[in-house]
Amino acid sequence: MAKICVYGAGSIGCYIGGRLLAGGSEVSFVGRARIGDQLRRQGIMLSQYDDRRWHVPPERIDVSTDGATAAAADLVLVTVKSAATPTAAAELAKVLRPGTIVVSFQNGIGNADVLRAALPQNTVLEGMVPFNVVECGPGAFHQGSAGELEIRHAPALQPFVDEFRKAGLPLTQHADMLPVQWAKLLLNLNNAINALSNRPLKEELSQRAYRICLAMAQKEALALLKRVNVRPARVTPLPATWIPRVLGVPDALFERLGRAMLTIDPLARSSMSDDLAAGRATEIDWINGEVVCLALRLGRTAPVNERLCALVREAERCDVRPSWRGDALLAELRAAANASSARHGGN
Ligand SMILES: NC(=O)c1ccc[n+]([C@@H]2O[C@H](COP(=O)([O-])OP(=O)(O)OC[C@H]3O[C@@H](n4cnc5c(N)ncnc54)[C@H](OP(=O)(O)O)[C@@H]3O)[C@@H](O)[C@H]2O)c1
Repeated sequence: MAKICVYGAGSIGCYIGGRLLAGGSEVSFVGRARIGDQLRRQGIMLSQYDDRRWHVPPERIDVSTDGATAAAADLVLVTVKSAATPTAAAELAKVLRPGTIVVSFQNGIGNADVLRAALPQNTVLEGMVPFNVVECGPGAFHQGSAGELEIRHAPALQPFVDEFRKAGLPLTQHADMLPVQWAKLLLNLNNAINALSNRPLKEELSQRAYRICLAMAQKEALALLKRVNVRPARVTPLPATWIPRVLGVPDALFERLGRAMLTIDPLARSSMSDDLAAGRATEIDWINGEVVCLALRLGRTAPVNERLCALVREAERCDVRPSWRGDALLAELRAAANASSARHGGN
């Protein structure tokens, strides 16, 4: 049987790897000692928003802190946070056999390119995880929303497609992943706003001022994407270009629309919010920062996303967690947009 290695045993890695194990695949994990101890003691407990559950017993778990575990793999799933990608790529370059397929199941746009540069003898593919997963106890991971894994098509991937299907995680394949990655990134632009609000997602999105902040960040990104002819893929019931308009409707109407379109756990927060709470570095440079980089490449500016980056970086350095009110954050972003427009004549 083909061997799969999950590189980065955290929320996404343990969930996808655990589901593959539960479906009968052969999976090993590379992760930190803390997670390794938990998995060896408890196995992996998985749950899903629709109350389905899986348990993989400890005797089926193969987990190590040693990157050399990946040497035996035919398929490696990279599930570290974006800042850890260069280190993961360097460790994989030391041990992977030529021909092993590597999939980046990470957010952001450039992680697969970082892996590709370090692994010229391997097929590296972009993947996208549309659902959210939280660690809800030792060895326990919960999928909180629906959606199917998306991945770049490659003939070499075909032997594994059936393994994902058997695990109940079918792969939707695309010739070009860039529109899919940008569509996910547009949604992830809310992570910074949620983290700065220091409120659960449901509460944050119920307030129009925060939603307008998100609409401003998305409109800025959409205008830049238009210039490079990237049409974001449809990963939500509404096309990406309609979402900023819907975000601006009054609270009562948004609540009704939201109820019909998305279920959000009342306590769920974005992973960026959890990172700030835990004093960890966030993925801000790989999300809003990606919009700022695109603007720079085009000789333009992205003041709203640039300001969000600065505020999150400030929060990373601060001992006291900021809790921005919606109206204050909106005023801050509008001021940044106006100042930029005065400087550059509104690009
Ligand atoms: N969680 C979600 O709902 C979700 C949904 C869609 C996409 N994503 C994306 O998926 C990626 C992973 O997110 P996540 O939430 O699963 O992150 P996570 O829970 O932090 O998991 C990553 C794990 O990998 C470990 N790690 C990092 N470098 C390592 C190395 N060299 N060797 C061994 N272990 C290493 C990390 O340990 P340390 O923390 O000690 O470095 C951490 O335990 C991110 O790009 C994220 O944006 C997440």
